[in-house]
Formats: sequence, structure tokens, C-alpha cells
Amino acid sequence: MRRLGLILILLALLPGLAGAQERSVAPGVNRSYENPDFAGWRAVFENEGREIHEHRHAIVEALAIRPGMVVADVGAGTGVMSLLFAEKVGAGGTAIAQDIVPEFLRGIEARARQAGLKQVRTLLGGAQDARLPANGVDLVFTSDTYHHFEYPQAMLASLHAALKPGGRLIVIDYEKIPGRSSPWVMGHVRADRETVIAEVSAAGFVLERTHGFLRENYFLEFRKP
Ligand SMILES: C[S@@+](CC[C@H](N)C(=O)[O-])C[C@H]1O[C@@H](n2cnc3c(N)ncnc32)[C@H](O)[C@@H]1O
Repeated sequence: MRRLGLILILLALLPGLAGAQERSVAPGVNRSYENPDFAGWRAVFENEGREIHEHRHAIVEALAIRPGMVVADVGAGTGVMSLLFAEKVGAGGTAIAQDIVPEFLRGIEARARQAGLKQVRTLLGGAQDARLPANGVDLVFTSDTYHHFEYPQAMLASLHAALKPGGRLIVIDYEKIPGRSSPWVMGHVRADRETVIAEVSAAGFVLERTHGFLRENYFLEFRKP
């Protein structure tokens, strides 16, 4: 009888314990990347009408990447930024193209080979863990990726652990402003700029700079103290 009581108490506690684990904040947001066609997604991500792509060189310049750095492009997609980072870090640095989609990583490997950029490394991440080396990265770059994190708290904790002290986290993502942003953005993007700043700050980062040259996206530079 006492044992049955104990079991009942444990069963009552279980939902609370499960609640301690983060639930997906955006179920299905990455569904369109299942079995992706690399060339098809290149046409989408690397379209000159897309603000981030159109301003890619200005974005890279704003990051002040130096030779020898370790830069991680988290949620690299088709890898255009990873390749630009590889040119900046040079042969003595590393550009990590990280994503949760193996097909994207295979496509990036082919592009890096073709460009002769041996400093590009690909890394398959998990939805809750970037799997980057601890205290091993100078700069984590995310573009159009934060709103694809289904488990932002877990991802931010893993990015924090991956950065060296003083390392930087870049978040470029869509402005979500009622009446200004498109209906697609309002429906697809989970959080607005202020919410993102609050979430990233709560994970132990300090907002150091806001770059103002994009219009549809914000460009935030955080530092791990
Ligand atoms: C809209 S795409 C942006 C790709 C690229 N950053 C760009 O701007 O062209 C979002 C990317 O985030 C990736 N992604 C989603 N969740 C992720 C996670 N938890 N960790 C790493 N990448 C993730 C997706 O697979 C996809 O490649």
C-alpha cells in the first residue's frame, strides 16, 4: 500500500519534471528542410533580392574578422557566408559551417573543395546543441537562423559554452513589426527584436552593438563577457 502511494506521488510529479525541459517554441519551423534540394535552396538563399545576401560583403566587413580566427556559421544553409568567412580567416583560421541538415553540409563541402578553401570544416549540430568545441570559437554568426531555433534556451547555452571568453555572437534576423513587416514574416517569425535581445541577454550575453544598415533585418552583436 505504501509502495502504491509512493508510485502515485512520483506519477504526479512527472509532468512537472518533464516541464523543466524546454519544449519546441516553433514546432515544424524546419520542416521545409527535410530532404532538401541543395541547388533549389541556393536559388532561394542566394538571391540578390534577399537583403542579407545583397549586403553579404558589408556584413562580413562589419564583423572585423581577422586571419587565424575560428568563426562558426551556425545554421549555415547553403554556406555562402561560411565561404566568405573562410577567405577572411585565411589558411591559419577555421570557418565552421554548422547546420542540422546533412544535405546542406555535403553541398557546402563540395563548394569549399571547388573553391580550394581547406579551412572550411562542416559540423552537424543537434536541435538543442550546436556541438561546437567548448571555449573554441571567436565568433558565432547566425543569419535568418535564430527564428529557426526550436529550443532557443538550449541552443544559446551551447553557443555560450562554445565561445571563448570575450567571443561574439551575431544575430541577424527579420524585424517583426506589426503594420510594417510582411504577413509572411508576421506568421513565420516567432519573436521580435526586443524579445530576441531579452532571450539572448538572459543566456549571459551582453548586447554590445547594433549595426543599422539593414532595413528588413536587425543586426545585433553580443559578447560573452
Ligand atoms: C533560413 S535558413 C538560413 C540559412 C543561412 N544562414 C542564410 O542566411 O542563408 C535557416 C537555417 O537554420 C538551420 N537550423 C535550424 N535549426 C537549427 C539549429 N538548432 N542549429 C543549427 N542550424 C539550425 C536550418 O537547417 C537552415 O539551414
